[in-house]
Amino acid sequence: MIIKNVNLETVCGITSVLPDNAHPEIAFSGKSNVGKSSLINALMNRKSYARISATPGKTQTINYYNINDELYLVDLPGYGYAKVSEKEKIKWGQLVERYLHSSRQLKAVFLLIDIRHEPSANDKMMYDWIVGQGYEPIIIATKLDKIKRSQLEKHIKMLRTGLKLLPGTKVIPFSSMTKQGRDEIWELVETEYIG
Ligand code: GTP
Ligand code: MG
Repeated sequence: MIIKNVNLETVCGITSVLPDNAHPEIAFSGKSNVGKSSLINALMNRKSYARISATPGKTQTINYYNINDELYLVDLPGYGYAKVSEKEKIKWGQLVERYLHSSRQLKAVFLLIDIRHEPSANDKMMYDWIVGQGYEPIIIATKLDKIKRSQLEKHIKMLRTGLKLLPGTKVIPFSSMTKQGRDEIWELVETEYIG
């Protein structure tokens, strides 16, 4: 994908009306701090257009990035952030759910999992939801730079077992530090979901 222009076009909070966009949407889901906003920056070739933070719970809204007036990359708030109140968690969850259920342009929901850790119950729930809704699940194993090359197979296996992935499910290892995996993700988006 040649990035000609990117624009944070819409930002939605818990009380917002969600936009009815004219282009395909690709959404990025996953635990807080897993690297959703960092991945979106890497895909857009921008250093810090999407706000990122070492503190989990950075993205608290649904952010729609318009790419070339061709598609939207949709940054979702993360789940499982321990420091927000139960009430807040429920509200964010409802916002994400409302989006996932109502968007008419949503083509794919990528699920990001930190390559170092066992998937959580929330990760499993998200994966099951994606499959249950009839979307092809695509797993992005983030922070690839944090493990040794020799550990890769073991970690991918842990992830496949933890999520009980259906055979043939795509797992793409990715690092926003080295950008490894970036081209593969764009190629997938371009061939499967747009145009
Ligand atoms: P929320 O908005 O809180 O849901 O988090 P997020 O999933 O958007 O994560 P974000 O992109 O803000 O990244 C969280 C932290 O992880 C930041 O400190 C990033 O610099 C770091 N990070 C993200 N991706 C990578 C990666 O591939 N490698 C390394 N080493 N660090 C990463
Ligand atoms: Mg974020």
